[in-house]
Amino acid sequence: MEEQALRSRMARMSLEEKVLQLVQVAGGTFSGDGSLETGPAAALGLSGEQGNKVGSVLSLVGAEATEALQNKLAQEQPEPIPLLFMADVINGYRTVFPIPLAQGCSFHPELVRDCAQMAAKEASWAGIHCTFSPMVDLCRDARWGRCMESTGEDVYLNSRMASAMVEGYQGAGLQNPESLAACVKHFAGYGAPTGGREYTGAELSEHTLRQSHLPAYASGVQSGAAMAMSAFNGLDGIPCTGNKKLLTEILREEMGFDGLTISDWGAVEELIKMGVARDGAQAAEEALNAGLDMEMMSGAFAGNLQELVRAGKVSQQRLDQAVYRVLRLKNDLGLFENPSRGRNPEKDTAPMPQAHRELARRMAEESLVLLENRGQLLPLPKQGKKIALIGPYGNTRELNGSWSIFADTQDNQTLTQAMEQAGIAHTYLPGCPMLIPGTCFPGRMAPTREDMTAQEQAEMLRQAVEAARQADIVILALGEHMEQSGEAASTARMELPTVQQELLRQVAAVNPNLVTLIFSGRPLVLGEVADTAKALLQCWLPGTEGAAAIRNVLFGDAVPCGKLSMSFPYTAAQEPIWYSDLRNGRMRDAFPSVRYISGYLDCPDVPRYPFGFGLSYTSFSYGTPEILGDLDREGEITVRCPVTNVGNCTGTEIAQLYVSDQVATVICPARELKGFRRLTLAPGQTAMAEFILTPGLLSLVDRSGNRVLEPGAFTAWVGGDSRTQNSVEFTCRKGRALPKWSIH
Ligand code: NOJ
Repeated sequence: MEEQALRSRMARMSLEEKVLQLVQVAGGTFSGDGSLETGPAAALGLSGEQGNKVGSVLSLVGAEATEALQNKLAQEQPEPIPLLFMADVINGYRTVFPIPLAQGCSFHPELVRDCAQMAAKEASWAGIHCTFSPMVDLCRDARWGRCMESTGEDVYLNSRMASAMVEGYQGAGLQNPESLAACVKHFAGYGAPTGGREYTGAELSEHTLRQSHLPAYASGVQSGAAMAMSAFNGLDGIPCTGNKKLLTEILREEMGFDGLTISDWGAVEELIKMGVARDGAQAAEEALNAGLDMEMMSGAFAGNLQELVRAGKVSQQRLDQAVYRVLRLKNDLGLFENPSRGRNPEKDTAPMPQAHRELARRMAEESLVLLENRGQLLPLPKQGKKIALIGPYGNTRELNGSWSIFADTQDNQTLTQAMEQAGIAHTYLPGCPMLIPGTCFPGRMAPTREDMTAQEQAEMLRQAVEAARQADIVILALGEHMEQSGEAASTARMELPTVQQELLRQVAAVNPNLVTLIFSGRPLVLGEVADTAKALLQCWLPGTEGAAAIRNVLFGDAVPCGKLSMSFPYTAAQEPIWYSDLRNGRMRDAFPSVRYISGYLDCPDVPRYPFGFGLSYTSFSYGTPEILGDLDREGEITVRCPVTNVGNCTGTEIAQLYVSDQVATVICPARELKGFRRLTLAPGQTAMAEFILTPGLLSLVDRSGNRVLEPGAFTAWVGGDSRTQNSVEFTCRKGRALPKWSIH
């Protein structure tokens, strides 16, 4: 529909119809026949008829269910406005890819884009139009359970992955019925909750916000994200849901976002709980006037906006602006012409296509991170060794992570099945339950309670230890329960569940040939795990094809290449810990005192495994980096560095470029990632890792909050992780001011 036609359609809407377009309700608010369920609807303050006119529904999926509701509502309206179906398609819809934190470890934006594109296809077959993804919150505190949903601690990596996901979901444009509208979230600073405690406020300086936390959102916006979601938290004492500076000044006026904003679940009414609104009316007024367009699952807009407009507290113009954004998104998706857009009941219910599995397997293989391989224990031979697979993660299909709410774990294999499928002889013994029997996380999606008597548990352990004693090699599959990460899953401890620690101790005591696999939604404290394992593979929550991917890496059909997207601490008390912390005057290696230095008395200042770290089955050596070009004359420079495979098998290295501004007007990080290159090299082969550095990449946020490239000397390092010392220097002679969000 042309803009003119859309505007005249809007002009024919009543005030009530307009307000209801700004309301999103969950699928559960409707009963099977498409009418509103009295209880849930009343809780939102909606009457029966109003349900027919809401703008959007979330979490109702399936080609048939969405079609039925769309048709039902259409029959009841003389001039129907199609519904927008939205859902959390986070790391896949039916085919589940590794959790986003793991995808970050691939350092492979093109593959991440392909996964998002495949998720968009599957979700649109099920009638979904918009996904609440990508979540691009910068996340440096692993106590926060939602770090599993982010691509990690680094500004540049997050920004690249934000763009990749938006490009994957939206493809060449929303007119393609197999695309989804992407929604960058949670704007802003949700990844920095105080103490890692879910939903607490973020205390970020203006500088840190702009320099580190906002760029990934800006990147998603620049890639064309159609939507943005406000964060639950407060930032600097102001709730993000009602934050005009964030939602209007920064997001729209500075970043140029022109799409639809939506609140998080129930967050508008939470302004009352936060003590910044007396009642729903004030909450609605604050949120809409701040720049929020659509309310998810609370009744403040539905119950109050009409009156607020009549009373002049919300202008007609602001209301129309929000409503128009909803209608425009529907129009961009082609829903007025084709309300069945994308739905495909056959494909929606057909068995999972092989190509989807293959992509999931590849993504999983590339997201696994090899943390130790002492004595080159890996890869293991497929025959000729007695292998015991032990541990609760050896025989579970629960490998998807807590956000994969539409997938069926029956589509997954267990690790023991994946090994059997490849004819790899082994014995499997659980050794212990996932958690101490009786552990229960109230209100979780998956049951966590495993009942077992003390004798049963002791016998389980005894059998596993016996099998370990008799084996040549033990593969120990351990990890957090999947409900220990995700939303509202903050933890103060970051070790393995104690029952698994005991299993580890006893198995390690009888067999030193230990290959330990860690499944988790966050970096864990690996102390004893890392000390006892000969080989240690971080598997995250690897998705539908995770088991096959792990098998392929363990037995040499794939060579590990993942690098950590988030640092692993020695102890939870180090959190938040990240590699690119700001310099201070007394850094350990740069201050002539043994006493007055920045750090801890009882623990290293650095993480156990740093950002960017990961081993391969081969090894790589780096030559000296050099600089080509002149930043002032050509507007960019190239850093290049030869990388050679000096090991015995072909492997992929992720060469990383870090940069620091040596002297600036503000304190800068000691180094920051500014580029990465994937190089697949045969033994003895050398290739050049080349990186382009632009003024945007070298810029900083100055004392006035402006983006500038400052003149002076820079250091660039090129190497295989964030600790590399392989450096070169270059100079920028002419400083310059840059547009605020010129970050690439
Ligand atoms: C709450 C979460 O914070 C958000 O990420 C999600 O998209 C919504 N619920 C909808 O499920």
